[in-house]
Amino acid sequence: MKENFIIPQNILEHIEGTSLYYPCSLRDTLSAVKLFAPYINDFLFVDKCYFSGYSLLKIPTPKELPGYRLISRRRKGPVRAEMTEKYDEVKKEYYLDLEPCIVTETYIHEQTGKTIKFRLKRGFGEYTLRNSENKYGVFYYRGDTVNEGGSGITWLNKKRLSNICSKLIDGGLIVTDGSNRGRRKDKHNQFWKYHFPRKNDILPNPEEMISSMEPFKDKAGRTFTCVGYAGERYGPTFIWQVFQERKEDEVKK
Ligand SMILES: C[S@@+](CC[C@H](N)C(=O)[O-])C[C@H]1O[C@@H](n2cnc3c(N)ncnc32)[C@H](O)[C@@H]1O
Repeated sequence: MKENFIIPQNILEHIEGTSLYYPCSLRDTLSAVKLFAPYINDFLFVDKCYFSGYSLLKIPTPKELPGYRLISRRRKGPVRAEMTEKYDEVKKEYYLDLEPCIVTETYIHEQTGKTIKFRLKRGFGEYTLRNSENKYGVFYYRGDTVNEGGSGITWLNKKRLSNICSKLIDGGLIVTDGSNRGRRKDKHNQFWKYHFPRKNDILPNPEEMISSMEPFKDKAGRTFTCVGYAGERYGPTFIWQVFQERKEDEVKK
């Protein structure tokens, strides 16, 4: 796995002290930490298989990184849980239920003395985001599919993207490879511009790919600018900064 990150210092400073949210993350935990810690000091990874389905898979934690020391660990919720089908009497429909479990580890970053929280939560990524009162500095999402083994959730369709943006701080970041994309004609279709290289395609270098991304605006007036590169997993991952709509008087100030 290549890990040549590109991110300007002022972007890291902008999100300092905020949280990162990564749904459907499974074992892809450490790149986000390497890229953003200790600026981001709270990392929340959500996967419905943590501690159960793929429970025997070891999830990489910052303990594996040089310079991070574990100082505490606590768990809320049962380690094992089965997905069950329940019936909603009001909506008159069946739904899937999964008892959550969250393990929070706190690490000290020895070089700066800062602490970071590393949280793994078993649960549904979409509900955790919807019910979150927190505004995140980073939404991180990649390596997913709509095929078997993937979440099948089109996280990057227009409506979901708008929900994601509403949970970001102003100037927050979306880090993605364009997995489970929206429609071809969507304004944000550059998110997956390099996601499906044709056989034998040679990708430009990361700097060239970043500069090939055009800034754009969505219907709600938010602006999106590609500001960096977060390495590769199954394809290149880009960092987009999102500013909420600017009112005329704010622009003049
Ligand atoms: C293809 S894997 C991707 C893992 C990771 N993003 C990576 O790059 O390696 C998809 C993961 O999504 C998880 N998943 C599926 N539906 C989910 C949901 N509704 N909420 C949270 N996780 C889900 C699965 O358990 C699986 O681990």
